[in-house]
Amino acid sequence: MSRISDILKKYYEKLSPLDLEILISHAIKKPREFVLSHPEYEIRKTQNAKLGSFLKRRMKHEPIAYITGHKEFYGLDFEVNKHTLIPRPETELIVDLVLKQATSDKGQENTGITKKNKKLSDTRYAICDIGTGSGNIIVSIAKRLESKNNNHELYGIDVSRMALKIARKNSKRHNVARNIKFIHGSLLSPLTEKLTKLKLDKLIIAANLPYLSKKIYASSPKDVSKYEPGSSLYSENYGLAHYEKLLKQISERFAICDLRFAIFFEISPEQKNKLEKIIKNYFPKAKVKFYKDLAGKRRVCKITI
Ligand SMILES: C[S@@+](CC[C@H](N)C(=O)[O-])C[C@H]1O[C@@H](n2cnc3c(N)ncnc32)[C@H](O)[C@@H]1O
Repeated sequence: MSRISDILKKYYEKLSPLDLEILISHAIKKPREFVLSHPEYEIRKTQNAKLGSFLKRRMKHEPIAYITGHKEFYGLDFEVNKHTLIPRPETELIVDLVLKQATSDKGQENTGITKKNKKLSDTRYAICDIGTGSGNIIVSIAKRLESKNNNHELYGIDVSRMALKIARKNSKRHNVARNIKFIHGSLLSPLTEKLTKLKLDKLIIAANLPYLSKKIYASSPKDVSKYEPGSSLYSENYGLAHYEKLLKQISERFAICDLRFAIFFEISPEQKNKLEKIIKNYFPKAKVKFYKDLAGKRRVCKITI
């Protein structure tokens, strides 16, 4: 039998203290605080075997979230697996911006979306999370909009059926399954017909699609390149092929309807100029604004059409 202190000592140079504490806590099914305050705790044989396997996986660079099977995002706990990207803290910015857009009068004035004298509660809008992955963005949005007016439709779209399975599970886990429709398909394709029939005032798009350029993807750490799905991360054309395809789709399929758009793309900071050019190519009159994340890096591009 090993004590917690034995494990911490043995792996001290191989793994970070934080990784060790999380993995021990996961193996013995007790909170991290317990691990920190009970170095004398004797780990049972079955727990020890599990812990050994967790430590081995982590030493091969498998991300902690895949080993424990979950990750916190926007104050909620999300199930994740090898078919879903692990939610990143910087992605919380897109949730903040979409919520602001959906709930504040200011957001509506800015877009010019609301017709004169139309109250917020009368505005019919849909929010589409394109490339939903574990569902972290749309589930967080649904959770916050729960108590507000329900004049909205929420969708999560992904090309990966395995990711959608996890997204549905996460929506059930957070009691918002009734509010979100998860749909399989590429970009807005599975919804274009439906959306034109819904008679919406506005469509809000949140997209954290693959946006790493070949160069950045090639230099990403082993935890990312070896374990996270490349189809969630990498995109052609300096990382902008998915976003360009989506803008093209919107310009072609919604050209004749009255629908207004507020589109939010998560990006890599160096993509600003190239993305602006692409946007102006499809929507010369679009308003484009960039927002920085907590690290001060340009992270979200908002396009108002
Ligand atoms: C960067 S991950 C983002 C996952 C999640 N939204 C998040 O914020 O963590 C990109 C997601 O886009 C999906 N995806 C890739 N190409 C797509 C496409 N053409 N249409 C819809 N989803 C796509 C991937 O399967 C993956 O789940």
